[in-house]
Amino acid sequence: MSLPTSLLIRHARIILPNGEFMVGDLLTSDHSIVEVAPSISTTTSVTEIDATGLTLLPGVIDPQVHFREPGLEYKEDLFTASCACAKGGVTSFLEMPNTRPLTANQKALDEKLQLAASKCLVNYGFFIGATGDNTEELLRGNPTPGIKIFMGSMRGGLLVDDEEVLDSIFSQGDRLIAVHAEDQARINQRRQEFANIHEPAIHSQIQDNQAALLATKLALNLSKKYQRRLHILHMSTGDEAELLRKDKPSWVTAEVTPQHLFLNTDAYAKIGTLAQMNPPLRTQHDNQVLWQALLDGVIDFIATDHAPHTLEEKAQEYPKTPSGMPGVETSLTLMLTAAMKGKCTVAQVVNWMSAAPAKAYGLKNKGVIAPGYDADLVLVDLNTYRPVLRQELLTKCGWSPFEGWELTGWSVYTIVRGEIAYAKGQVNTEVRGRALEFGSYSSSQDS
Ligand code: DOR
Repeated sequence: MSLPTSLLIRHARIILPNGEFMVGDLLTSDHSIVEVAPSISTTTSVTEIDATGLTLLPGVIDPQVHFREPGLEYKEDLFTASCACAKGGVTSFLEMPNTRPLTANQKALDEKLQLAASKCLVNYGFFIGATGDNTEELLRGNPTPGIKIFMGSMRGGLLVDDEEVLDSIFSQGDRLIAVHAEDQARINQRRQEFANIHEPAIHSQIQDNQAALLATKLALNLSKKYQRRLHILHMSTGDEAELLRKDKPSWVTAEVTPQHLFLNTDAYAKIGTLAQMNPPLRTQHDNQVLWQALLDGVIDFIATDHAPHTLEEKAQEYPKTPSGMPGVETSLTLMLTAAMKGKCTVAQVVNWMSAAPAKAYGLKNKGVIAPGYDADLVLVDLNTYRPVLRQELLTKCGWSPFEGWELTGWSVYTIVRGEIAYAKGQVNTEVRGRALEFGSYSSSQDS
């Protein structure tokens, strides 16, 4: 257990809660931010960071990742994934239940929390998965950000595609329900229709826009029927975004991945099955509509859906290849690069990647730089552009769909609860995050 330290970050360009910047200092003590001011002097012993030329942002909260432990550690584990988080400026994550065993009861949840406590460099939380026959566990599972339902795109225990069963889950309890919204019946039918095609691009036609729209409509209807807190994971189509623009109850939130903003079906020609994910990549038009929905607040925040698979697995012939791409090392730089190009502002990126997910999951004292908040921070360099290089990646799968992309806003220092977890290319593997605590969501502006 490391001792609480005090950090004094000097001369940083600090983003304030109102989205404005101030050049100044920030002091931490006992894992929290205690002061933000133009200049801080202290008599106590502190570790100093000279942040001249760097921009200080709240650490990224990645609200959808697959870190594979327990059971699938050959793809990734909580240690390697959290090292990748530290490098990417991600200081907290929410992880999904499709591990082995499935995180579908209190025992599995407790075991994951224990594993994370011993291995994770950053803060962590774990969803509990609906299986269709574990209602008791869904009602009591604790602590968890919510219930994950795979309405489609899943084999085995975690697939819940029966409307009556879904209705029953929505009707009981009040915990957040997060849905992977794809219609399994439509996918099954189209899989048969296109069974002889092995071009990876067919993936986006099999699991088409309509499959996503059907499931999102159903989830929205059930959420409205019971006024049940709903979060729509990795929204991928313009059609869903437009649906939500017309009809979004105050208790519903939605996220989009960088992949669905920056990549589209053209990617299959360049990177083949590495571009295969669920829900699949869509068209350039979908990219644009999703961007606009994000800018307009119809989509609330960003998640990576970091879903690593080995290169060997990805080298098989479609459809034997697994779906998913890693993302925690590139999400912040992709978004900040977009901000530098004028597509959005840095303040918007901070909202989408820190403040808004903190609010959606009721993460107290996270997502903002202000005294009293947890000292989860990232110091980024917005002046230098560097390519994404395979040899520099820390994710165990060892590849990225963004290799070669010239990006800016790379983390120079990542700080987790006042401790330096990543500094100038080096991960401090001694640092450990904490289990996140979850509160309720209020959609009001000032909550
Ligand atoms: O592409 C995906 N892969 N989407 C998911 O939702 C699951 C994930 C995985 O676990 O590999």
